[in-house]
Amino acid sequence: MIKNYRELIKKYNASGPRYTSYPPATFFNENYGNDDYIKSVEKSNHESPRNVSVYVHVPFCPQICHFCGCTTETGFSRPFLERYVDAVMKEIDFVSSKIDRRRNLTQIHWGGGTPNAISYKYIEKITNKIKDNFNLSENYEMAIECNPAHLEFRHIDLLKNYGFNRISIGIQDFRKDVLDAINRRPSKRPIEEIVKKIEDTGFSGTNIDLVYGLPLQTVDSFKETIDKAINLGTDRIVTFSYAHVPSVLPRQKILEDIGFPSSESKATMYENSYDQLTQAGYISIGMDHYSKPEDDFAIALKEKKLHRNFQGYCTRQTTGQVYGFGASSISQLHSAYSQNFKNTMEYIRNIEDNNLSVYRGYSLTHNEKVIRHVINSIMCNYYVDFNEVAEYFDCPLYEIISILEFDSSNFVDFIEDGLMDIHGEKITVHKSGRLFTRNISMKFDPLMSKKIGTYSKTI
Ligand SMILES: C[S@@+](CC[C@H](N)C(=O)[O-])C[C@H]1O[C@@H](n2cnc3c(N)ncnc32)[C@H](O)[C@@H]1O
Ligand code: SF4
Repeated sequence: MIKNYRELIKKYNASGPRYTSYPPATFFNENYGNDDYIKSVEKSNHESPRNVSVYVHVPFCPQICHFCGCTTETGFSRPFLERYVDAVMKEIDFVSSKIDRRRNLTQIHWGGGTPNAISYKYIEKITNKIKDNFNLSENYEMAIECNPAHLEFRHIDLLKNYGFNRISIGIQDFRKDVLDAINRRPSKRPIEEIVKKIEDTGFSGTNIDLVYGLPLQTVDSFKETIDKAINLGTDRIVTFSYAHVPSVLPRQKILEDIGFPSSESKATMYENSYDQLTQAGYISIGMDHYSKPEDDFAIALKEKKLHRNFQGYCTRQTTGQVYGFGASSISQLHSAYSQNFKNTMEYIRNIEDNNLSVYRGYSLTHNEKVIRHVINSIMCNYYVDFNEVAEYFDCPLYEIISILEFDSSNFVDFIEDGLMDIHGEKITVHKSGRLFTRNISMKFDPLMSKKIGTYSKTI
């Protein structure tokens, strides 16, 4: 780490998009509806990537954690859950009928909420529906986000039988007092046993999620949490920076009574985690992911072929245009984004009446696709070469430079601070600059000047 790191964190810690999509979801508009989505899906059959990714959202949790930024509800009854599952199946039937069956389904991701807290017969039903309606590729990846408070060994066996090959376990922190503070139940079984069971059952990978910046965490306690995570030896570890946006997520407000670690402590937590994980042999992927060197992510990063979508990072092999199913789910197509209604009842009613439940979306212009490509390249692969971008879009270099309104003087601060370099048409973000990729990306984003939406701090 470079010497004046703490100063730099102070200097650059502004609010900004996470760039899981470009334009960010705050720019999606309600003029985009069901008919637009059908047209976008039909168009997507002729666009790249040709692969199909499917996202299934389960917006239910037995108990809501106060820190949580996801769209989820509690207090659901069995008949309501059944109606939801039927709606998801109906949506899959309708949307998949518009998708070219010759396209390969390479990636299925179940997120939430807590998908592992619903009855497993529903998981099986929806999984079978997906397998029946899409052309599942041989090397597909099927992952599910699981809260270990509800994960039994027999569930792991069932998931394997249904065809899942990756499990992501939300740990957040190993400390009981931190979990109590965020209203989260601890794991049912020791995490070591769960990780071992997943490995023994033949899953190809396990991911664990940790969050830093939560109430009661200290620099030393989070150091211990990272050490424990390293000892688990999973192939991927994610250290999310806690995003506090109580104006958008009122459930988070209650945590202010307990208080948070200072931004300086939070920065040290990031710095320590980076050092601990890289010294233990993990490769840093993007801003918050770490993977073992032999993992697909690390290989893709080395080959500068790492991609990203709302579900996280992905490799070129598994990346597809994403078709989202369920309340609040987002579809990420080449030319458009579409998001379903967030309220589960509203989602169900719309699907029952019209097969679709689009709440808002966004159709991208050519220029926005270029900007998205550049921001993705910086966020995932820490570099961008405008010549390669021109080649990709099959247009002259001057056109790319003009679309990006590229002016090297916008980057002087980053260069003087030793965070990145510009050589000719190529921008390289240094290791010391990785924490600032959101800030660097913001310089390519003309929408920043519109100041629409509330964003978390970049660091
Ligand atoms: C849908 S949630 C997790 C799945 C599962 N329900 C669980 O809790 O284990 C996915 C991940 O998002 C992360 N997350 C949720 N809220 C967050 C926030 N406000 N800031 C940063 N990360 C957050 C957590 O690490 C969580 O494991
Ligand atoms: S963190 Fe997971 S379990 Fe907790 S409320 Fe969010 S989705 Fe539910």
